[in-house]
Amino acid sequence: MATLKRWVLRRRPAGEIQPGDLDLVEEPIRDLAEGEVLVRTLYLSLDPTNRIWMSDQDQYMPPVGIGDTMRGGSLGVVERSRSERFKQGDVVNAGLGGWTTHVISDAAFLTPAPQLPGVPLTAYMSVLGATGLTAWFGMCDIGKPQPGETVVVSAAAGAVGSIAGQIAKLKGARVIGIAGGKAKCDWLTGELGFDGAIDYKNEDVGTALDRLCPNGIDVNFENVGGDIMDAVVSRMNNFGRMPLCGMISTYNDADRPAGPKDFARVLMHRLTIRGFIIIDFLPRAAEAMAELIPWVMEGKLKWKVHVDQGLEGAMDSLQRLFTGNHDGKLLIQVSPEP
Ligand SMILES: NC(=O)c1ccc[n+]([C@@H]2O[C@H](COP(=O)([O-])OP(=O)(O)OC[C@H]3O[C@@H](n4cnc5c(N)ncnc54)[C@H](OP(=O)(O)O)[C@@H]3O)[C@@H](O)[C@H]2O)c1
Repeated sequence: MATLKRWVLRRRPAGEIQPGDLDLVEEPIRDLAEGEVLVRTLYLSLDPTNRIWMSDQDQYMPPVGIGDTMRGGSLGVVERSRSERFKQGDVVNAGLGGWTTHVISDAAFLTPAPQLPGVPLTAYMSVLGATGLTAWFGMCDIGKPQPGETVVVSAAAGAVGSIAGQIAKLKGARVIGIAGGKAKCDWLTGELGFDGAIDYKNEDVGTALDRLCPNGIDVNFENVGGDIMDAVVSRMNNFGRMPLCGMISTYNDADRPAGPKDFARVLMHRLTIRGFIIIDFLPRAAEAMAELIPWVMEGKLKWKVHVDQGLEGAMDSLQRLFTGNHDGKLLIQVSPEP
């Protein structure tokens, strides 16, 4: 009998995820009901927000329930279908299909994966997926960089940050990235065209910002929170904009993270801070794709994916997001591409 494997949340992690917080279970694949489709997972997206979903803090979606399959975005291929909408072999976006080798879904919840010539499937999980949309809406809709303005991006060599910084460059801004380690910083300035990069693991971020942003900062694309956010906010110019995309440095903390230390600066310098979650922008995805797809096809936008093999290692792989031990959008290849 055919079986599937899935990761189940057993308890809410305290601090970093520990063995036993999730459990890998194997079980028979049930028969399909009318209108259902069996999808074999090809790629699973691992995201910092997975850690938030494991907790029961106040958040933008219900937390994953104890005993439920861990939630996660995935792309898969149809293995069996009892729907006229999909046939065996179709590659589909399974939405939040979860940390599972197979998912049975109502066909209505699946969409065909886009397929552009010469573009690998993993691109639809990164630059042309939620990652690219997050970077585009955060930068273009909220950050709104103008030619000549100074933009700072934290976690700049990561999936979202690397795209966000390149978008700001394409819009004519000066872009400074903050990332951990020389190799990541060299990639930002050497290959992505950033105007400067700060290795926060080896230099003082405030001192480096003073050097690289002598005219202050107009846009802060915030991915990290904490001390890095403080250093950037305290150098923001009048009418500066801060798309608050993420605060990864705080996701393992039990306490609610504090806001910028110098909150008065928001008033005195008339800053706009706007938190955003990409799901709110999905109805407008076509606006972003109208720029992202040509940039990708013309080679103007670069991206990297870091693909780990096998669902079994998902818990260990997720830790990479918190140590930085990955290079680009973190994915798991759960099964071979058709
Ligand atoms: N608002 C939304 O809808 C949305 C959607 C997607 C992602 N996000 C957010 O965007 C941010 C980036 O996500 P991503 O998926 O693109 O992941 P990513 O940047 O590819 O990976 C996370 C990176 O964060 C950095 N990092 C981790 N802990 C840190 C710390 N304590 N201090 C400084 N840097 C740290 C590491 O980079 P280094 O190696 O440089 O240290 C790591 O590689 C996250 O905050 C995430 O929650 C938000």
